[in-house]
Amino acid sequence: MYSEKVMDHFNNPRNMGEIGHASGVGTVGNAKCGDIMRMYLDIDENGIIQDVKFKTFGCGAAVATSSMATELVKGKTVQEALQVTNKAVMEALDGLPPVKVHCSLLAEEAIHAALWDYAEKNNIVIEGLKKPVSDIAEKEEDVSETY
Ligand code: FES
Repeated sequence: MYSEKVMDHFNNPRNMGEIGHASGVGTVGNAKCGDIMRMYLDIDENGIIQDVKFKTFGCGAAVATSSMATELVKGKTVQEALQVTNKAVMEALDGLPPVKVHCSLLAEEAIHAALWDYAEKNNIVIEGLKKPVSDIAEKEEDVSETY
């Protein structure tokens, strides 16, 4: 049911934890399943993501997708991190079962929420970044139409 990569990231999550004095912190949840994700970003003065950590109270697919998402954004610019969609994360994990696709939205949305927090703290506008939702269940219908 799950790819080897999903199982690997679930069993050995990368970048789990938190960052004190993070440049940006984002928390999102899914009211339908009750899962919660928090993402911490450490961004340097050149807008490069030097470090990223996550904490989750979520299912295995949420853990695996968050772990992969952190690997994909680490070392990237803020703009590049915006391109790390849940679809990109799923592709990097060799796919997710259809019923678990929504779990990958937590990671994407938590990164966006952390970037939003960073932008607000620094009084900047990140082009292409929309105000994140705190409950991704609102977005799920769009996703099930896409997949
Ligand atoms: Fe809630 Fe996976 S079941 S994030």
